[in-house]
Amino acid sequence: MASSSSELRTPPLSVEHTKGVNGLEKVTLRVPRGFSAEIYLFGGHVTSWKNDHGDELLFLSNKAIFKPPKPIRGGIPICFPQFSNLGTLEAHGFARNRFWKVDTNPSLAPTSSNAYVDLVLTPSEEDMKLWSYSFEFRLRVALGLDGNLVLTSRVRNIDAKPFTFTFAYHTYFSVSDISEVRVEGLETLDFFDNTKNRERFTEQGDAIVFEGEVDKIYLTTPNKVCILDHERKRTFVINKEGLPDAVVWNPWDKKAKAMVDLGDDEYKHMVCVEPAAIEKPITLKPNEEWKGRMELFAVPSSYCSGQLDPKKVLMSS
Ligand code: BG6
Repeated sequence: MASSSSELRTPPLSVEHTKGVNGLEKVTLRVPRGFSAEIYLFGGHVTSWKNDHGDELLFLSNKAIFKPPKPIRGGIPICFPQFSNLGTLEAHGFARNRFWKVDTNPSLAPTSSNAYVDLVLTPSEEDMKLWSYSFEFRLRVALGLDGNLVLTSRVRNIDAKPFTFTFAYHTYFSVSDISEVRVEGLETLDFFDNTKNRERFTEQGDAIVFEGEVDKIYLTTPNKVCILDHERKRTFVINKEGLPDAVVWNPWDKKAKAMVDLGDDEYKHMVCVEPAAIEKPITLKPNEEWKGRMELFAVPSSYCSGQLDPKKVLMSS
């Protein structure tokens, strides 16, 4: 049947399952105005989020190695059940380098107001040797009609004993030049400095700027944090729920050079701001469920943090 011209002009929400780099399975979400997102089943890992001009909003390293078990450098790795090396597991846990499945029995209701995919991770026998707890980790990645990207994680304890975990959405944002970037919303807060043996300090009253390596875990942060990219005239707005902490990371030149999957100068074009639950680990009793949600917007810099609702601001910055 022939489509009418208005149908042709307005493509529907779409969710496409294809193969990505090295034949790894990926899902592409698209919404009518032209925004898109890509999610690899390896890691349950968002690797791309583009605006309606096709501009990439997340940073993905040119040297990213799409070869399991090496996690993908860039995008949004999921750190679970451990952030960093703050426990006995490999750094940032194992969720970021396991194969997730498409969730055929999602706990979240279906919706027609965004394009989304539901993924699920359950531990293998090998995982149970590393971390001896049964869990179901359900992740919905949704792209809203206005291009907002929403990640909702639900972890359920299906074991007979309680367990405790830490978590982060290790989000790499694409920026024009790290020296021109400011992070707002973390002023005057306490943080652990990872570059100083996790000593506790209090941040000054000014927005965070970058003049060298930064690796800090900000504690009990507000639910909204903004990243201002002056050169690109773009502001990222992060809204988070159930994730009290926020990690800010840029490796700067020396550490970047030491990383095989990051180009020597690529640190200039990325900043990680990672909604997280670290200081107070989450404990779930049998049958209990935890939820952590992050919503990302990209808005023109004329948007002034705290004054406008990003949902009402056009995202094509
Ligand atoms: C950050 C940590 O979240 O991730 C840093 O705070 C760490 O300490 C960085 O270096 C990258 O970790 P990885 O394991 O992906 O190289």
